[in-house]
Order: sequence, then structure tokens, then C-alpha cells
Amino acid sequence: MKTVLITGANKGIGFETARQLAELNYFVYLGSRNKEHGLEAIKKLNDMGIANVETIVIDVADINSVRHARQEMETKINSLDLLINNAGIAGDQPQDFATGDVENLRRVFDTNFFGAVQTTQEFLPLLKKSSQAAIINVSSEVGSIALRTETGRNTNRDKYNAYGSSKTALNAFTVMLANELHDTGISISVNSVTPGYTATDLNQFQGAKTIEEGARPIVKLAIQSDPGITAKFFKDGGEVAW
Ligand SMILES: NC(=O)c1ccc[n+]([C@@H]2O[C@H](COP(=O)([O-])OP(=O)(O)OC[C@H]3O[C@@H](n4cnc5c(N)ncnc54)[C@H](OP(=O)(O)O)[C@@H]3O)[C@@H](O)[C@H]2O)c1
Repeated sequence: MKTVLITGANKGIGFETARQLAELNYFVYLGSRNKEHGLEAIKKLNDMGIANVETIVIDVADINSVRHARQEMETKINSLDLLINNAGIAGDQPQDFATGDVENLRRVFDTNFFGAVQTTQEFLPLLKKSSQAAIINVSSEVGSIALRTETGRNTNRDKYNAYGSSKTALNAFTVMLANELHDTGISISVNSVTPGYTATDLNQFQGAKTIEEGARPIVKLAIQSDPGITAKFFKDGGEVAW
């Protein structure tokens, strides 16, 4: 049975990704920064008849919590097949760069960017022990510089500058880590994927997609078996321009 750790999986797209991957016979470590919320999510899955899930307390913005989670996982498994850096926050509004609160920007980066980097660093040794490992970074179209500079595109440009730039940085992490691993002969794929605008707490349930639809491109990427697919940015039904 393949193993996966999904951060921020107690609700929203992460939870649904956990459900779908568990249904596909993965053993799912469901990351939650709050233990009670993690246990509630496990109970929900158990009530659906899903038993191959366990919760792990992990606050990706807190290096001690990430290390503790890694140590706990090392007592349970010898290798990890898939890491999904899904935990994310939208940050407070307003987020324009001309006047926006830099502390807010830092908080958003602490979770969406540094959180993914430090989680990946801690779990890389376990991933390296898998015969075919992958890292998936859950990103967003609002992090795409190409889309933001497309002529005539109405993007609500300044509304998500903190969030968007943190996802741009996450995308840079995807490409640079993918190349770094490839160039040092380590066969672990690293890709970004966007769920698309999905109704969750992150956007006060304004998104157009259901969590089932939002999780779909993540699960599709998770179960594809070509290790040569790396340093890419996917959406449902195709690729996204960086
Ligand atoms: N919804 C969309 O339209 C959309 C579009 C593009 C990309 N995304 C991305 O999809 C991912 C999942 O978002 P979602 O829409 O499912 O939002 P959500 O329902 O708000 O879920 C976010 C999850 O991340 C967790 N989290 C936040 N900060 C954390 C931290 N420091 N450490 C660990 N976990 C943390 C939350 O935990 P708590 O319950 O404890 O807060 C929650 O489990 C995010 O990366 C988001 O940026 C979402």
C-alpha cells in the first residue's frame, strides 16, 4: 500500500484529497495542525467506511511541529511515497503591495511558502527511501505571472497579492527543487497543481467548484505513474503557464 502525507487535510480540498486517495488504496497520513480537528476528520472518514487513514499533528509554519511530525512518522513507516503540500491560508485583506501590511505578507509566506519548504526538507529522507516518490505542491492560478500579465485579463489584481505572490514563490520552489533533485540523480518528481476556484473556508465558500472537483487534478497527478513528469504546473484538464 502506498503512503501519502497531506498537510492541512482536516478540511476542504485536503480532506477530500485524503478521502479520494484512501479510496484508491493509499494509506493516508492526514495532516492537521489541530489534533482534535484531525481526529474529527478521521472519524468522518471511518464513518464512510474508510479505515486506511491516520492523523498526524503538523503545523507547517512551526519547524518544531514539522520535526515532531517527521519523528512520529519515522516510528510508523520506513518510506514515504507521496508528500502533498496542501496547507494554505488566504491572509487578511487588503493585500495591495503599495500599502498592505508586511506582517500579513510574512504570515502568508510562513504557511504557503516556508511551510512547504520546511515540510519538504524534513520529509525528503523518507521520500528518498521510496522506490518512486513524488511531491505535489498545491498552488493557485493567482500565482501565475503569465496569467497576471496576459493582456486584457481582469484578475482582481491587487486583491490577492500576498496570497498570489506566496504561490508564485511556491511555484519557483517546485521548479527549482525538481531540477535540483533531477541534477543530483534523485528520482523524485516535484509538480505544482491548482484545484481551481473551489468552495471552501479559504474563500468563504465563494468558489465555483465542489471539493470533489477541486481535489480531482491533485488526485490525478498523484496517481499518474511517470516519474519523468516533473517541474510542471497542472490544472484540471491541462497545464498552467507559469
Ligand atoms: N479553495 C480554492 O479556491 C483554492 C484555489 C487554489 C488553490 N487553493 C489551495 O488549496 C489548498 C487547500 O485550501 P482549501 O481551499 O481547502 O482551504 P481550507 O478549507 O481553508 O483548508 C486549508 C487547510 O490548511 C490548513 N492550514 C492552514 N495553515 C496551516 C498551517 N500553518 N499548518 C498546517 N495546516 C494549516 C487548515 O487548517 P485549519 O483547519 O487548522 O485552519 C486547513 O486544513 C491551499 O493551499 C489553497 O491555497 C485553494
